[in-house]
Amino acid sequence: MCGIVGYTGTRQAYPVILKGLKRLEYRGYDSSGVALLKEGKLKVYKKKGKVAELEEEMIGKEIEATIGIGHTRWATHGEPSDRNAHPHSSASGKLAMIHNGIIENYAQIKQELLNKGYTFTSDTDTEVLLNFIEDIKKNNDCSLEEALRIALKRVSGAYCILLIEQDNPDTIIAARKGSPLVIGIGKGEHFLASDASPIIEYTKEVVYVNDYELAIVRPDELILKNIGNEKITPYITKLDMELAAIEKGGYDHFMIKEIFEQPSTIYDCLRGRLDAKESIIKMSGIDQNIDQIMNANRIMIVACGTSWHAGLVAEYIIEELCRIPVEVEYASEFRYRNPIVNKGDVIIAISQSGETADTLVALEKAKENGAFIFGVVNAVGSSIARISNAGAYTHAGPEIGVASTKAFTGQLAVLMMMALAIAKQKGTVSKERYDHLLLELEQIPEKAEAILKNAKELKKIAEKYKNASDFLFLGRGYNFPVALEGALKLKEISYIHAEGYPAAEMKHGPIALVDDQLPVVFIATNDPYHEKIVSNMQEIKARKGKIISIITEGDTVCPGLSDDYFSIPLVDELIAPILTVIPLQLLSYYVGTAKGIDVDKPRNLAKSVTVE
Ligand code: AGP
Ligand code: GLU
Repeated sequence: MCGIVGYTGTRQAYPVILKGLKRLEYRGYDSSGVALLKEGKLKVYKKKGKVAELEEEMIGKEIEATIGIGHTRWATHGEPSDRNAHPHSSASGKLAMIHNGIIENYAQIKQELLNKGYTFTSDTDTEVLLNFIEDIKKNNDCSLEEALRIALKRVSGAYCILLIEQDNPDTIIAARKGSPLVIGIGKGEHFLASDASPIIEYTKEVVYVNDYELAIVRPDELILKNIGNEKITPYITKLDMELAAIEKGGYDHFMIKEIFEQPSTIYDCLRGRLDAKESIIKMSGIDQNIDQIMNANRIMIVACGTSWHAGLVAEYIIEELCRIPVEVEYASEFRYRNPIVNKGDVIIAISQSGETADTLVALEKAKENGAFIFGVVNAVGSSIARISNAGAYTHAGPEIGVASTKAFTGQLAVLMMMALAIAKQKGTVSKERYDHLLLELEQIPEKAEAILKNAKELKKIAEKYKNASDFLFLGRGYNFPVALEGALKLKEISYIHAEGYPAAEMKHGPIALVDDQLPVVFIATNDPYHEKIVSNMQEIKARKGKIISIITEGDTVCPGLSDDYFSIPLVDELIAPILTVIPLQLLSYYVGTAKGIDVDKPRNLAKSVTVE
C-alpha cells in the first residue's frame, strides 16, 4: 500500500500533488517525494518521514511546473530512508517513476542490469524496474511507452506506476496490475491517484484503470491501451462517495476494511514464498539462518497483546512440527525479570508496528546476552525490524484500525511457513504432511473470502448479545490462543469484559461464572479435540449459559447445543487459527458498532504502544 498522485494540466502541479499525498497518508507513509517537470528540467525531491516533512523540505525549492508525480511510500524492499523514497530517477536522469506494489522478480532483473554495468542508488525493487525500462528503451531505440510494455511483460508482482520523461514535457505514462489507479478527467487537465480522495475536489468524472492496462495522459488527452497495445475506450464513471468514505474504500471503518482485506493480505504474505505445487517454502530470513534456528537450544517468543497471541499459536505449531521447545513471554514481563537468555537461544519477536517499547527493550536485553533475534514485523524498517538479526515481513500493508486484525493473520501465515520450513529441514515432518499443510495454507485466502461472504450472520448474533456485561471465549489446542484473541478484540472494541480460556479449564473455577446471562463463545471446529469440546459445551448448557459456536461446515452436533453458530470451511487444525479468528474479529466489530463506539479509535488505546 502507498499513495500515488500525478497531475498534468494548466494548474501548478505541486500544490495539487502535495494535498493529494496528505489525503493518501492513511495508505501508509514512511517517506514521500515529488518529481516536477518544467521546460525539459526534471526535479526530484524526496524525504523520509511524513508528508509534512517533505513539505518542509520543499520550502525555497523550484516548484514551478504544470506536470508532476508524487508518492507516499509503505516500504517493502529497502528500509525507509531518503534514498529509498520515491520518485526514483533512472540512470540517465531522464526518467522519474513512482510505484505502488512489489516486483517479485526484481533480484534477477537487478543482477542482469548490474552485469551490464548499471549501478543503483537505492535498495528498492522500483529503481530496478525503472532502469530495466530505460535499458529496453535504449537498446530497442523505442518509445518510453513501448519500452514499458516490453518490461511489464517480463516482471511478476504488483504495480501501479507513473512515469514522466524529461523530453516529453506534458505526458504521464501509467500502468497497473494489482495496485489501484484512478484517473480524474478535468477540462484541459488530468489527475491520477491510488484512489479518488486526491481527485474528488477537482472532478467527479473518473476512469478506474484495470489490471494490464496502460494510460498515456496529457492535459487534454487520455489514451487507454491494454498491454498488447490495443486501444481501449475509457469508461467514465461519476464519483458518488464523499471524501471520508473514499479513504475507507467505501467501508464504514478502517477496522472492517482491514478485516475484509485479509484474503488479499494473506495472499500477499504467502506470495513469492509458498508454492504448494513445487512443495517449497522460500523465506530468505529463514533460509539464510536455518542452522542457527534449527539448532537453537530453545526458542523464546516475545511480544505483546495480539502479537503475543500469535506467539502462542506459534508455540503449539513449532513444538508440534519442529520438536524444539518454545516459551512465549509477555515482553513487558520478560524485560523486567531476570530471564535466562544465552548465546544459542533464538528469540522470535512479533510486532505489527515494530515500535512497541516493551518488545523493543526486551529484545535489546536478549541481544546483549547473545541471543539471535528473528523479527516477524509488519512495518518495514521499523525499530524492531532493524534490531533483528533476520526476519520476515507480514506484508499486511498499513493497519490503521487500533484493533489488530489483518496483521494478526499475516503473523500466523509467516509463523506457519517458518515452522514448516524448519521442520522440513530438520526432517521432523513427513513429506505428505508437509505437502498437505502447504496446500492448506495456499487455500486460506479463498476460504477467508468464503467466511467474509457470510459476515452479516455475525452482525445478527452481535445484535442479540451486545448488551451482555461479560463474555467467555473457549477453545482447545491451536484454537486456545484464538479464544484469547477473540476476548481481547471484544474488550478493545466494545468495552465488554471478556475472558479467554482453555475450554477444559472451565471446571477449575471459571464455570462458577456461568448463568443464563453469560454468552460463551466456543471455537469448536473439526479437530481431535472436537468430542471434548462438545462435552464442555454440554457443561455450559447444563448451567443455562448462552452458547455461540464457531464450527466447521457440516458439523451436525454443535448446532443442537448452540443458541447461535457460525460455520467456516473445513481446514487442518494446525492452520485453523488463521480462519477461526475472522468470525471473532467480525463479532467484536459488529458488537462495537451496535453500541455506537468509534471502533477505529477505541477509548484509552493507541495503535502502537511506544511508551512503557
Ligand atoms: C491488538 O488489537 C492491540 N491493538 C494490541 O494488543 C497490540 O497487539 C499490541 O499493542 C502489540 O502491538 P505490536 O504488534 O505493534 O507490537
Ligand atoms: N516496493 C516499493 C518499495 O519498497 C513500493 C512500495 C510501496 O508500495 O510503497 O519502495
